[in-house]
Amino acid sequence: MSREEIKKRVGYKAAELIENNMLVGLGTGSTAFYFIERLIQRFQQGLQVEVVASSQQSFMQAKQGGLNLLDIDRLSSLDLTVDGADQIDSQKRMIKGAGGAHVREKIMASMSREMLVIIDESKMVKELGKTKVPVEILPFAATATIHHMEQAGYKGLLRTNADQSLYITDNQNYLFDVYFPTFISSPEQEHQKLIQIPGVIDTGFFFNLAKQILIGFFDGQIVIKQ
Ligand code: 5RP
Repeated sequence: MSREEIKKRVGYKAAELIENNMLVGLGTGSTAFYFIERLIQRFQQGLQVEVVASSQQSFMQAKQGGLNLLDIDRLSSLDLTVDGADQIDSQKRMIKGAGGAHVREKIMASMSREMLVIIDESKMVKELGKTKVPVEILPFAATATIHHMEQAGYKGLLRTNADQSLYITDNQNYLFDVYFPTFISSPEQEHQKLIQIPGVIDTGFFFNLAKQILIGFFDGQIVIKQ
């Protein structure tokens, strides 16, 4: 089965788990796209659901599908957030943000009673690392912020668009993709080191947020891990 087909199955399966009158946080990314697609279908068939979106992309998809979008600024909690991940380990620690939305995604997950992570099996790793971890930084004095990160031993690149212009997040900030060439022995420590640098908004490390994981395997099986 193709990876795309697996993402679709996992996203659709997650949408089947949504119950009437839930207030749901919509994640961002290609797997979340399928979740939202199926949620819209269920809404059109009569499911009562209200949503908030973690990105402009998910917001537009939900809006075009007619979903009841609430203003997250006026809410203190959500029932459930459904979102993808780039890597997840056995302790449910994650790296997120390949889609550039991790700051809002983390806020949304942390205000949710539960976070359901939707992934294909390639996202499950023994140890996090050997990949980039996005760090959102303020444009103000960005050169100095990056210099501080480099002095602390981090190497990375400012994210750019296909036309080489700087990538700007939905929060109007920059993303510095820090590359970790090896496995990360303490993701928590790396997060702490990065977050204390002035100008850093947040990292793509997620801890103690994922509750259930819906995993799509390449043989077509879908498994929920508690
Ligand atoms: C966006 C994210 C995504 O959830 C993550 O990148 C996974 O995306 P996909 O489902 O497309 O693989 O963190 O900021």
